[in-house]
Amino acid sequence: MSIGKRNTENSHVVSWVKQVETLCEPDQVFWCDGSDRERQTLTQEAIDRGILIELNQKKLPGCYCHRSNPNDVARIEKRTIICTPTQEEAGPTNNWAQPDEMYEKLRNLCSGGMRGRTMYVVPYLMGPPGSPLAKVGIELTDSVYVVLSMRIMTRMGAIAYRQLADSADFNRGLHCMLDMNPDDRYIAHFPQDNAIISVSSNYGGNVLLGKKCLALRIGSYLGRREGWMAEHMLILGVESPEGEKTYVAAAFPSACGKTNFAMMVPPKSFEGWKIWTIGDDIAWMRPGRDGRLYAVNPESGYFGVIPGTNGRSNPNALATVSRDTIFTNVALTPDLDVWWEGKDGDPPAECTDWKGEPWTPASGTPAAHPNSRFAAPMRNNPMLGREIDEPEGVPISAIIFGGRRASTIPLVFQAFDWVHGVFTGATMGSETTAAAAGAVGQIRRDPMAMLPFCGYNMSDYFKHWFRIRKKLKRPPQIFHVNWFRKDSNNQFMWPGYGENMRVLKWIIDRCNGRADATESAVGWIPNAESFDLTGLPSVNRERFEQLQEINSEEWRKEILCQDELFLRLYSNLPKELIFQRELLAARL
Ligand code: GTP
Ligand code: SPV
Ligand code: MN
Repeated sequence: MSIGKRNTENSHVVSWVKQVETLCEPDQVFWCDGSDRERQTLTQEAIDRGILIELNQKKLPGCYCHRSNPNDVARIEKRTIICTPTQEEAGPTNNWAQPDEMYEKLRNLCSGGMRGRTMYVVPYLMGPPGSPLAKVGIELTDSVYVVLSMRIMTRMGAIAYRQLADSADFNRGLHCMLDMNPDDRYIAHFPQDNAIISVSSNYGGNVLLGKKCLALRIGSYLGRREGWMAEHMLILGVESPEGEKTYVAAAFPSACGKTNFAMMVPPKSFEGWKIWTIGDDIAWMRPGRDGRLYAVNPESGYFGVIPGTNGRSNPNALATVSRDTIFTNVALTPDLDVWWEGKDGDPPAECTDWKGEPWTPASGTPAAHPNSRFAAPMRNNPMLGREIDEPEGVPISAIIFGGRRASTIPLVFQAFDWVHGVFTGATMGSETTAAAAGAVGQIRRDPMAMLPFCGYNMSDYFKHWFRIRKKLKRPPQIFHVNWFRKDSNNQFMWPGYGENMRVLKWIIDRCNGRADATESAVGWIPNAESFDLTGLPSVNRERFEQLQEINSEEWRKEILCQDELFLRLYSNLPKELIFQRELLAARL
């Protein structure tokens, strides 16, 4: 079949594409099949049009760089909207609009919006083929950058039409770049219609509609209706030297360490231990027949933060981005290699920064944008778990929550039980990062790292966690971690990255009934003997005690900060959470 021609008989798809074509008036419609020939053709076109820069193919085969509009470098939460019939359904933590009004506004913006352009039809599958959790989406986009990125991030092409057959059950996604005016930027979700419309942006989480829009916002809504969970979580497998495998899922807010944790290389003293990556950003989970919670990664690539990635922090990520990768907003050296802050070696004497301007180390600005990213196929990851295509997913033994906190929160603690664990996740605080537009470094409540991603009322989302518990005979144990505690010199107290294996080891030992703990006011904490610090001279016992310190005064303030969220949600908040808060206050 020739490239770009219609490649599906599905009448629901065909008539919807026709409808959008009539609205947006593109010069042509290009039906994607996900083939390698198509990738080559579209890549060449993107290079010719200046949308991609071909990198040094000797050093970085199959790698390209894209520069986004400088007004469009991150997710934009202010412009992200949940359109449900009532505002109550979207809840107090989401921006809301009445669906008909939003459809009307977006129809006006998109009308004739693709004139002189090509509309690409991008069919994609989220989740392993044949999985009971798998979902089909179709994204109509006028961005060739989006097409090439979706090919990396999802199982894109004919495979999605095969899964769909003649069904009408697919996510309808429309992405129109328009003129990139930030005042016209909307990322609008219509959960009742399983539909998304994104306009006037061309950046990652705003426009790769399978990711945050479908897999989290629409996904969480569908999960509540259908009895499963869509979470902002990495999934990894820990293999012991004896070959025992334990799977954990972890929710950290954006740019707080999921990709790094999911690809961690254990330190030397953990010889024989292996970490296998299943997913680095999103988990879809459902109770299995055996009463355990099973998780799949709906994605097939990583859209990861690149600054700070080096041979010490994340060698597996470096290997992953060495080929077939699209970099966005990194700096370029004169020989068309890539550069970012925190890469191995000295900064180049001169290069081109993320905006395309000349840059030297004296410039005083970052060469790469702090939210510069790579889109790389998961198949490049040397430690990719082979369970990745397992339709049922992997059984989760531990759920870990974690925020970016300079004080108060200890390195690790374990919740007393599921309800306490849900309270711990629901009240999680974290400093804001460059992953979303707005101020960086401000502590806010980010329940389960889902504040920007929950597609319905947050109180109902908490209730859904309690409902799922009732379907589990062996629920995962719940933990909380903080890699980011600082000392009085403003230095991180914990070395992090591969050394996080020590925390993970304590966690899986707790799950497998092999490690001791002490009861504290906030949860179970490690005993000195049960936490392995061998071969880590930078953290002696005294330092470890400081990392684990639970200061009652600081924690009382922490409880007060939870009001920020609890007062907003008060009318509908599950009583279990209010009760947990009282218990915590009493224990302190
Ligand atoms: P999203 O893709 O935005 O959802 O982010 P993520 O949670 O996958 O975050 P990622 O692993 O990309 O890390 C973001 C930033 O945190 C990077 O700059 C890392 O260098 C830094 N980071 C990750 N792990 C650690 C750690 O253990 N300690 C410290 N100090 N920094 C870390
Ligand atoms: C995040 O912000 O949590 C990301 C990056 O994973 S984006 O896809 O842009 O949302
Ligand atoms: Mn994320």
